[in-house]
Amino acid sequence: MSSAELSVFIRAIGVHTPERKLTNAELSKMVDTSDEWIKTRSGIAERRIAAPGENPSDMGAKAAAKALERAGLTPADVDLLIVATMTPDVPFPSTACLLQAKLGLRRDIPCFDVSAACSGFVYALQVAKDMMRSGAYRRTLVIGSEKLSSVVDWSDRTTCVLFGDGAGAVLLETTPEKNVGLLGNLLGADGNNSELLHCIGGGSAAPATTDSLRDGKHFLRMNGKEVFRHAVRVMAESCERVLAQCDVKSEQVAWFIPHQANSRILEAVASQLNVGMDRFPSNLERYGNTSAASIPLALEEAWTDGKLKHGDLVLIVAFGAGLTWGATLLRWHEPPR
Ligand code: ACO
Repeated sequence: MSSAELSVFIRAIGVHTPERKLTNAELSKMVDTSDEWIKTRSGIAERRIAAPGENPSDMGAKAAAKALERAGLTPADVDLLIVATMTPDVPFPSTACLLQAKLGLRRDIPCFDVSAACSGFVYALQVAKDMMRSGAYRRTLVIGSEKLSSVVDWSDRTTCVLFGDGAGAVLLETTPEKNVGLLGNLLGADGNNSELLHCIGGGSAAPATTDSLRDGKHFLRMNGKEVFRHAVRVMAESCERVLAQCDVKSEQVAWFIPHQANSRILEAVASQLNVGMDRFPSNLERYGNTSAASIPLALEEAWTDGKLKHGDLVLIVAFGAGLTWGATLLRWHEPPR
């Protein structure tokens, strides 16, 4: 069989979230906000906050170890590692290399990060799939891991209420079987709107100085209203385009797993697609927006809750800073528990 015919499916999945919960009530003591405002505008009740020294490579390694354990595999079985993160442990080396060392993966494998903010997991899935379909890599760990608490300005009520920390990992594997796993996908970007959600300090353009620290340039800044508008339009369009590409009707999709940005964004996307919210599982209430970790976290939860069944069509869709977006249609392959 020619290697071009290989499919790529999710063989196993694992997650890790920090212990510490930060509730809306606690946030109300830190900034001028309320549980009612946060819940109504975002659907979030609490989020997890990583402990000092608990970094994306640590959380990602724990999520990946869980996926490997569930698959009955060891680190030696992994042929490729891709980490999606917008909060890398350090500017360099990549979080993937740090994670490789923590997990004890082989040294003869490529390990690299993908930078596409909240769309990072969907981007990484497609990169992995395209590298694997050639037959060069049999098993790949794709990990979304974020410590957004490290880039949030805890005095800015317009952003600090929305984000949280966590990690999710999938172990992808190739199979000669047809019509399984990752079926169709689409990625896009619009750098002309990069200033809608960004962090301008700490890179080579504006290295850390006492002035830049004083001016809070190392924090995430967002134009919430504009991001909201773009997110709804682009997420709905991406779903429609992937469905058309795969010749699948939205009624045939069992579950939509969107990036968990905000419950009102999810409701608006579902409404544009004419799909009921009962097919849009969400864990926003407990985790907030965990960027690249949010889709694997939501996917794992929908599966452990017994929602996802073998053979189900699942459509994942993301939107994030960049701006970036992406969608992937997959046929769910029941992973080991
Ligand atoms: N608590 C209380 N009041 C607040 C808070 C808060 N936490 N934040 C803002 N307000 C105030 C504002 O100051 C404003 O007051 P004003 O009318 O006196 O000026 C008022 O509430 C309304 O503010 P808006 O910004 O108009 O509120 P909006 O309804 O747009 O909701 C929100 C803000 C929740 C940020 C919304 O715009 C949104 O969800 N945007 C998308 C954000 C998002 O999901 N980003 C990430 C997606 S991409 C990614 O994941 C990287």
